[in-house]
Amino acid sequence: MCQDCRSAGASRRSFARFLAAGAGLTVLSACTPDVPAQEAPSSSASSTAPPAPSASPSPVVDTTTVGPTPAVQSPTEVPAPPSPAAAMPRKYSLTDPASPWLVVNKHRPLVPADYVPADLVLPGIRLAVSGEATHLNSTTAAAAEALFAAAAKDGVTMTLASGYRSYSTQVSTYNGYVASRGQADADTASARPGYSEHQTGWSFDIGDGGGACSFQPCFAEQPAAVWAKANCHRYGFVVRYPWMFHTITGYYYEPWHLRYIGVEAATDMANRGINTLEEYFGLEAAPGYP
Ligand code: DAL
Ligand code: ZN
Repeated sequence: MCQDCRSAGASRRSFARFLAAGAGLTVLSACTPDVPAQEAPSSSASSTAPPAPSASPSPVVDTTTVGPTPAVQSPTEVPAPPSPAAAMPRKYSLTDPASPWLVVNKHRPLVPADYVPADLVLPGIRLAVSGEATHLNSTTAAAAEALFAAAAKDGVTMTLASGYRSYSTQVSTYNGYVASRGQADADTASARPGYSEHQTGWSFDIGDGGGACSFQPCFAEQPAAVWAKANCHRYGFVVRYPWMFHTITGYYYEPWHLRYIGVEAATDMANRGINTLEEYFGLEAAPGYP
């Protein structure tokens, strides 16, 4: 049984209502008991050509050292991480918030904490949200348009459920989680202000056309999530918080949260079966705040 459903199903549902209230969504379904295990991306995906990154990421200036092999709670819980030697050469900065290879996690806050992307735009995709959350940075927006179009071509409806969130919005979002679930549980689902990918414009949450299972574990079984998991790398995205990798990423499975890193890197990760940015870039696991 899905651990999120078993131990926190009720709070997940109540929190989904909280999120829905903030994002203008309608939560239609309760959590189902099982979430499928991580699978390798399908090779039977659409072949629509993805867009080339349009941003001008900063040159590599990151000096982060390769951390220890990520700790896992149990060998049966999390697959063995790939060798650090498999880490990708660093083509772009891992610390500049304007870089598509930025890695922000509980050990790596945004600098500056109140960073605002300079190129936020409204993507031409189906929206299930209003306000600033409709925006993405320009590179991510172009890639999202290609992703959504390819999904539609395959008969899959996808909506933008939450995109950019400013620092001040993240304060409200995180505080809402804490009020609803307590801080320890909140920290498994929501980034603290200054630690969220949503603040960078590189990430967004997807929903399906009817709002089924929005922000709930059972979203993993919805067509939009199944399609995204199998195909998103072709458009430069990864599912940033995969199933059972919370000991590395710090967050429980979020099948709705996609992160743009570029087609080359996302496809390389998929082909090599690497599930997290921490492993891919040879960074230490970040299960909790220092
Ligand atoms: N839900 C993700 C971790 C965020 O709050 O950015
Ligand atoms: Zn998200």
